[in-house]
Amino acid sequence: MSLSIPHGGLLINRIDPNYDYSTIKKEVELDNISLSDLELIATGAYSPLTGFMNRTDYLSVVQDMRLENGLIWSIPITLPVDENQSKSLKVGEKIKLTQNNSIYGILELEDKYKPDKEVEAKHVFQTTDLAHPGVKKLFERPDVYLAGTITLVKSPQKQNFQQFYLSPVQTRQEFQKRNWKTVVGFQTRNPVHRAHEYIQKSALEIVDGLFLNPLVGETKSDDIPADVRMESYQVLLKHYYPTDHVFLAVFPAAMRYAGPREAIFHAMVRKNFGCTHFIVGRDHAGVGDYYGTYDAQKIFEHFSDDELGITPLFFEHSFYCKKCGNIASTKTCPHGKEERLILSGTKVREMLRNGETPPPEFSRTEVIEVLIRGMKR
Ligand code: ADX
Repeated sequence: MSLSIPHGGLLINRIDPNYDYSTIKKEVELDNISLSDLELIATGAYSPLTGFMNRTDYLSVVQDMRLENGLIWSIPITLPVDENQSKSLKVGEKIKLTQNNSIYGILELEDKYKPDKEVEAKHVFQTTDLAHPGVKKLFERPDVYLAGTITLVKSPQKQNFQQFYLSPVQTRQEFQKRNWKTVVGFQTRNPVHRAHEYIQKSALEIVDGLFLNPLVGETKSDDIPADVRMESYQVLLKHYYPTDHVFLAVFPAAMRYAGPREAIFHAMVRKNFGCTHFIVGRDHAGVGDYYGTYDAQKIFEHFSDDELGITPLFFEHSFYCKKCGNIASTKTCPHGKEERLILSGTKVREMLRNGETPPPEFSRTEVIEVLIRGMKR
């Protein structure tokens, strides 16, 4: 066995720092989501995408979780601009993609279209409730989607943990250097708590390496800031993980909170980074009560192993059992609810915000120290 084949067969590379854009006049200002998507398309993390989706791919993704060519894709990758601006842009022309006066990319405008956001929300998020952070964001963003192939001409500014930004080419090199044939990817937007650690290490028992790949793009405001989380991951790995079986790098995408659909998306992207396996626990990428506890696992049944090209590893809801004296799940623990401490990122965040110290059953002491310090900054 060797590292996974990229989605669609090859890793896309749309990076050209020498691109001559001196004659291009038109420009579009990117929001943070589009800027991170631009980079992720260009580095191949979103392979086989070479740009922002045209209407055929978009509709097919929204309705069927597939690109027009049949490949699995579950989240629309779109570039919204306001209607007035879209009128000034002509199909066929090149457009500079900017943010705060810096030029990051070039779009070859292939299509522009007005999406039906109600339909998009219903399919992608399974709700049109504006209290859902992903739906809210969808409706807040402008109303016309631009589509076409992109080129990245300048990498976006990295946060202050620069060494952890690696492209799929680079992560694959790292895995090969370590001689890993099988690698399990772990997505998180939270500090790693004991239940996370339990499922990561359970997975690690059957593969060569763990790719800890926290999402550091835009998240909702009550999630713990990425720089604090990064410090907490490093301290955790240092004290509790074998360095030759774990690798940490960031996933700079925005969080969509699309639950099941996002689990598929997360798996496809980790396949591009070289992972052969991907962890899906309880309520993956969920928020509030919008999705059932295991919906993000069930959705994988829609696709064959071959077309997924990455093996999902499903984990039951795990908790700390006082009687067992360790982390367990209903699969491994016979004791009652009263013995269980339910662990979740939301709970850790809540305790920290109320000035409470989460107990060691919840989270490693070294991690808690970093989080408490971080929350005071
Ligand atoms: S998210 O990115 O999926 O929103 P989160 O950090 O909450 O992030 O979870 C990361 C991964 O761990 C997900 O696959 C999630 O399903 C899993 N997970 C989180 N908490 C638990 C738990 N208590 N038991 C089992 N799986 C969990």
